[in-house]
Amino acid sequence: MSFRSGLDTPSGQITDPGTGTDPGEQRVHRRFSLTDTLTDFINLRSDDLLATERKAVFLFFGGTGDLAYRKLYPSLFNLYRKGNLRSHFAVVGTSRQKMDNEKFREAIKKSLADSGNRTDSKEATDFVSHFYYQDHDVTDAAHYSVLKELIEKLDKKYKAEGHRIFYLSMAPQFFGTIAQDLKTQGLLSEGPDVFNRLVIEKPFGRDYDSAKQLNDALSQSFDENQIFRIDHYLGKEMIQNIEALRFGNTLVESLWNNRYIDNIQVTLSEKLGVEERANYYDNSGALRDMVQNHIMQIVSLLAMEQPVAFTDTDIRAEKVKALRSLRVYNVADAATNFVRGQYGAINDQADYRHEDNVPHDSTTETFVAGKLLFDNYRWSGTPFYIRTGKMLADKFTRVDVVFKRPLVDIFAFPQSKNTPLAANVLTIFVEPHAGFSLQLNAKTNDTGFSTEPIKLDYLVDAEKSKETPEPYERLLHDVLKGDGTNFSSWPEVSYAWKFVDQIRRVWDLQEPQFPNYTPHSMGPAAAEELIQRDHREWIYRLNK
Ligand code: BG6
Repeated sequence: MSFRSGLDTPSGQITDPGTGTDPGEQRVHRRFSLTDTLTDFINLRSDDLLATERKAVFLFFGGTGDLAYRKLYPSLFNLYRKGNLRSHFAVVGTSRQKMDNEKFREAIKKSLADSGNRTDSKEATDFVSHFYYQDHDVTDAAHYSVLKELIEKLDKKYKAEGHRIFYLSMAPQFFGTIAQDLKTQGLLSEGPDVFNRLVIEKPFGRDYDSAKQLNDALSQSFDENQIFRIDHYLGKEMIQNIEALRFGNTLVESLWNNRYIDNIQVTLSEKLGVEERANYYDNSGALRDMVQNHIMQIVSLLAMEQPVAFTDTDIRAEKVKALRSLRVYNVADAATNFVRGQYGAINDQADYRHEDNVPHDSTTETFVAGKLLFDNYRWSGTPFYIRTGKMLADKFTRVDVVFKRPLVDIFAFPQSKNTPLAANVLTIFVEPHAGFSLQLNAKTNDTGFSTEPIKLDYLVDAEKSKETPEPYERLLHDVLKGDGTNFSSWPEVSYAWKFVDQIRRVWDLQEPQFPNYTPHSMGPAAAEELIQRDHREWIYRLNK
């Protein structure tokens, strides 16, 4: 069965009148040839096989921040060790702090050591020698001329061929200003073969309107294909594996629809509370912090149609189509299909309202569960249940794909003591362990005839897991290659906000009864009721 409508004309396709005898016949042809597609594919993917050296000057705004030290610089070091960066690159860190290059390089060494690297090697010393520091006030346009001079000098020194990567890892209110100043103050390099790429950390707005405002500001200086909106979940091995699992296996993809799948469950569970991030988190909450970005991205990968080719444009086109068919709830449906929670206290664990920097009357949700419905041919009638929260039982991310039970259970004959056949469940373990598990029914190993669920498991072994690149390493590598597959495009972000805004709007009308869940549980009772109402249950349960 084909799910792709013959009338669709996604980007990269054109219609022509066809050559059949029926004058109304329309054919869909690919605009590019197979050779073009192969060339694109090879260009984008060749680094995965051979480490090709990439050239660029990086400019990090928020260059002394926690994320930069913990994730970004160690990831660059890994790319350096693998040969994706060699001699033609330089890194400039900026922030308001005053510091000289030497001190900055010491801090980089420490960040490498903290992430488990040896720093007494020639390799580490050489790598660190590519780092420079310039203090900078992002709101002062005049300061940009100093940065301009520095990156031009470094470009020449390291022969980076004019390629620039601007990484914004700081308070989001400055994103628009920085992007505009980069352009107006002449920091973007010019020429037919150079690239200028802008990488942005979340949050991308706090609702659709503010996200649009930000996007409009960015688009004055950068085209959509130059903007790389980070969603670190898209850099995770098993999230990337969703495409391989679906489109690499007839067995899986042929069943991947509402005829065979009863429901899909996505769980992003966190064990820790808000920690020291309350200033940010209390203004955000789980819906904005996790659902609008990470969960919507995972769901769109699960729900999308097969892309025409494995290229960023084709994959994004399908994700956008999926998100367009996600039902945006009216007030009544939003209230029924989404529930929220906030953690209470237990033993020496304070409740959320008594965590550092959280107002004692905070109504911010630390837990969300919801039901998503797609109004399209593939998914109509098959809900996606999602849940995420802080201070839950454990730290893990998983997707459970629950298949429909056989229409007839021939093993349930009158004298049989057999329990009804269990549903087949395909679980994608994202973290902490990576792997898949497929639950099937099989005969019990005895003389009678009963059935029992058994599991076919594939778990990536510990040795292999150690070699798995960190999400930020993959994503920085993708930026260097110019591959936007694992970044959120503006249409994706905007559909996700439109969906989430509606839930938020409804929640803002009503004072929640918080706290409503015990730390180390799987959230409030309402999350159980949400799914039980549909005569289903969460596949991952505590004490099962
Ligand atoms: C971030 C959120 O995007 O993702 C955090 O802001 C959350 O609140 C984190 O803790 C979870 O990421 P991971 O990779 O640890 O599952």
